[in-house]
Formats: sequence, C-alpha cells, structure tokens
Amino acid sequence: MQLIFSNDTDKLYRYVADRLLETVALKPDALLGLATGGTFEPVYGRILEQRSRVNWQLARTVNLDEYYPIGRHGEQSFYTYMKKRLFDPLGLTEEQSLVLNGEAADPGQECMDFEERIDALGGIELQVLGIGRNGHIGFNEPSDAFEPHTHYTALTDTTLTDNARYFEGVDQMPTGALTMGIETIMKARGILLLAVGRSKAQAVNALVNGKITPDLPASILRVHPNCTVLMDSEAGALLDWSLGQQL
Ligand code: F6R
Repeated sequence: MQLIFSNDTDKLYRYVADRLLETVALKPDALLGLATGGTFEPVYGRILEQRSRVNWQLARTVNLDEYYPIGRHGEQSFYTYMKKRLFDPLGLTEEQSLVLNGEAADPGQECMDFEERIDALGGIELQVLGIGRNGHIGFNEPSDAFEPHTHYTALTDTTLTDNARYFEGVDQMPTGALTMGIETIMKARGILLLAVGRSKAQAVNALVNGKITPDLPASILRVHPNCTVLMDSEAGALLDWSLGQQL
C-alpha cells in the first residue's frame, strides 16, 4: 500500500480527479468506481473543470453504495448526488452510470444483479474510496466478518450521526444501505482512498498501523496489490510522513 501526504488538500483533490481522467483517457470504456460524500465533491468539481480533456462517450461508472430504502430521485439519494455533480454535466446516460437502486422491491436480487453488471462490464479499473470515522469503506460497517458481496447493511450510530447533516435530522434518515462488498471492492484493479480532516486521523492510523480486521473494514486494503491512501495534514496527523511520499 502506497501512502501520499499533502499539506495542500486541493492538490489531493486534483490528484484523484486527474487519475480518474487519465484512466478514461487511456481506456475510454474503463469502468470507474465512484464514491459520494463530502470528500468527493471537490474531486468531481475538478473533473468538470477538466472534462474536455477526455471523451466521455464510452465511459462507464459504478457507485459504491446507496441508502436503503430511499427514493431514487429524492434530494438525498446518492443517485441524485451523482446525477447533479457528474452524470448530467458530463452527459452520462443511465446505461453508462450504474447506481444501486434504493427503492428496489427485492434488495437481495438488486445486489446480485449489480455484481453481475460489474462483471459483465469487465470489472472496475479504478475505484475511489472515502473512509468513515469508524473505518468503513463503502457502507461496509465494522463487524465480526468481512462481507464479500454486495449486500444490505444496517448503518451504525456513528454513520447515522455523521450523515444526518444531509437530512432534516437523524430520525429522517434511512437506517440502512446497499453497498458493494469487500471482495467486490478488492477486485478493482486499482484503488485510491482519500482521507481529509481531523475526524479521519484515527481510522487512517488504524488502517496503516493496526491489525487487519473486519472491525476496521478499510484495513483489508493493506493486502490489495495496487492501493494508494492519500491524506491531508489533518487526516495524516498520527502517521509518520517518512513512510510515504509528499505531494
Ligand atoms: C460514500 C461512501 C462512504 C464515504 C465515507 C466518508 O459513497 O462510500 O464510505 O466515503 O462515509 O464520507 P465523507 O466524505 O462525507 O466524510
């Protein structure tokens, strides 16, 4: 696992955006694995600024997760987040951009179909990840065992508290989500995890220095052959910067 540190958070956003853009430039029909949340808003902003650098006609994307249950077109769904910030401005159609359906009648079937679609699209070329304060990736929450495949999960109190800011309050939030599983994520040919802010410092420290354990789902990334963790000065505050490179 490679570590990249920077005192300039904008450089990290640009780095991640540029890696996604380069992936499409090199392989126009590459399947990009995308994430939502506060961390990725500036990344998608940068992609839009630079969108003319690549041809998006063949590009395909898949998102890590979606709340469940949630109206697909409602204001707080991850589908709406992506549509507003990336899909519509880039002109990506429904066929090009795969997002789990938060209103699927049969969530188990939805998850199986999702896995099949990813495989049929040739697998994920580059997956970007954020990290939860509790070490979650996607919505793989701390638990007793790694859950390999895409599945329904109940959200933990930490995640509910952290994400309540996007809703009218914590009691207005869906209490569950559909998420790519750990194996689904680990099958991506490249992974970039971006951590920004003091609230992520402990999780990032445990990811780099702690045990590999389902209690800190991100820790599994240590065994991925092509994974880079990028941190700003606050998220990387507990780490020895000489272990990585500085941007
Ligand atoms: C979102 C996702 C989550 C977030 C994580 C960090 O699609 O999969 O794992 O990346 O919760 O969220 P922010 O960036 O809002 O701190």
